[in-house]
Amino acid sequence: MSYMRQIPVREKNIVLIGFMGVGKTTIGQLVAKKLYRDFIDIDVEIEKNEKMLIKDIFSKYGEKEFRRIERETISDICQAKRCKVVSLGGGAFQQEEVRNVCLENCIVLFLDLSWDRWKERLDLIIESRPVLHNRTLEEMQELFNARQDAYSKHNSRVQTDNLVAEEVADYIVETLKLGWDLYQPQKD
Ligand code: S3P
Repeated sequence: MSYMRQIPVREKNIVLIGFMGVGKTTIGQLVAKKLYRDFIDIDVEIEKNEKMLIKDIFSKYGEKEFRRIERETISDICQAKRCKVVSLGGGAFQQEEVRNVCLENCIVLFLDLSWDRWKERLDLIIESRPVLHNRTLEEMQELFNARQDAYSKHNSRVQTDNLVAEEVADYIVETLKLGWDLYQPQKD
């Protein structure tokens, strides 16, 4: 990428990644509000564009087609928009193209919740997550573990086990502001 095309660090989109149900949407909305930015939930964008629920896209067209739509939606948003807070679906970062476009253009934050804490949320999230349907708890844990490698490709990580959403959002905002000041001190 040429120097001219580099995005000033303060204008980069903030992208939240992490497993299903770790709070990417709730925390993303809070971070956006605190930074006076717009919030974009990629799953909501897909549902709006396709005029269909994610679970219906899965059942009608299959996961492969969902991943294609997801990849294109993320690519478009991450390259065309600035100053947004964006939450990705939990499987998006499995795709190399998604990882590359996010890491090249955005600040990527990994919301890291342990398996033990995640299990406690299962009842709340399972109905709307087709990827979890027809899987045993052990199989879900395998998926959870298998995805950690992709999530490890981030700019910053927040361990969220003992924090409520508001605390996570405050921590993210403080860390971002510190980073922005270090890289581009404001002129008085
Ligand atoms: C998925 C996660 C979901 C959604 C889709 C697939 C996944 O998003 O994109 O159901 O493969 O992990 P959330 O992480 O917001 O639940």
